[in-house]
Amino acid sequence: MLEKLFPAAPDPILSLSCTFKKDPRPQKMDLGIGVYKDHLGHTPIMKAVKLAQEELALRETSKVYLGLGGNEGFNHAITELLLKGTAAESRSATIQTPGGTGALRLIGELISLAKPNGCIWMSAPSYVNHKPIMEAAGLKVQFYPYFNEKTMQVDVNPMLSALSKASKNDIVLLHGCCHNPTGADLRLSHWEGITELAQKKGFIPFVDIAYQGLGKGLENDAQGVRLLANSLDEIFIATSYSKNFGLYRERVGAAIVVGKNIKEAENAKGCISQLARTTYTMPPNHGAAIVETILSSSSLKKQWHDELNEMRERIFCLRHLLTQALAFRFNDERFHFIQDHTGMFSMLGLSPFQVEALKAQFGIYLLGDSRINIAGLTEDSIDYFADAIKILVK
Ligand code: LMR
Repeated sequence: MLEKLFPAAPDPILSLSCTFKKDPRPQKMDLGIGVYKDHLGHTPIMKAVKLAQEELALRETSKVYLGLGGNEGFNHAITELLLKGTAAESRSATIQTPGGTGALRLIGELISLAKPNGCIWMSAPSYVNHKPIMEAAGLKVQFYPYFNEKTMQVDVNPMLSALSKASKNDIVLLHGCCHNPTGADLRLSHWEGITELAQKKGFIPFVDIAYQGLGKGLENDAQGVRLLANSLDEIFIATSYSKNFGLYRERVGAAIVVGKNIKEAENAKGCISQLARTTYTMPPNHGAAIVETILSSSSLKKQWHDELNEMRERIFCLRHLLTQALAFRFNDERFHFIQDHTGMFSMLGLSPFQVEALKAQFGIYLLGDSRINIAGLTEDSIDYFADAIKILVK
């Protein structure tokens, strides 16, 4: 039977990391997968996480099963982190998931359950895994224009005009902050435009927020999702703690459903729990327990805030240094957009040929659409990267 299977296509992000690891060149640079790195190019465990782990090791007395919702203390704490101060908090239900991907898939399946063959709109471009996940969940994918390759910013009018064709109960996937892959984020006025359109057309926003705190700060990064949650009857949220707590391999995420009322939201949570039961029963506790421990202790929370701010400021500083290094080499402002983007990523507007040449000639790894992970740069490697760009770009 197994001979009938086709070989799986390599994942564009994870396979790049494997090729990078095998590259023997000492000057190689990994600007592919979205992980935060310090000035030594190392992805450290945050101090707040280390302390929470120590506390947990002493406090935990049992490894008995949790319920299908996972760690309910975590669910409560992260709902507050995201929706604090919104009226929507009291009509929302949250379920812990294995990573943000788990949340995306389960919400996708929930939507399919409520509306078989439903349509989901996503930005062109979007995170490479969005389309495969939503198609695997049984949804039809459509794209709306998002990124203007001339200005390297959000193209809001074409976006709103495409979304005005969305039907009632179509789903519109949005990036809460730190747009992946472009780095170009929606402004508050854009979120207001989307909210008004959703009210008029009846489409339902689905916000993927995987980088809260790494764009413009914890509160600022949540302003779009809070506006939608406050203004609309129903929204879906997939959230991840891989990046802002550095818990990548622990796979910590959550699915949040905001409903017209708490009864409908809880009912949706029950349906998601059932979907989880037939997939993996319940999520692993360790990463969620770390997040809960940090968010429920004022000293650990402060420690985490400080470290997160440091990470965000470092990314901002690297953006600035790269923009300056390129302006110096090109003697113009063509790469100025890097400084205006937010979060871990920027799409540079290079051709697939240039991306390939960066890898082959210089050992610089980035995604095929020319997305770079800004946090993969170091103060020492920026000049090498800028020199390589100058050689390849006329
Ligand atoms: C990325 O976009 O690089 C990350 O979100 C890693 C992943 O799982 O794709």
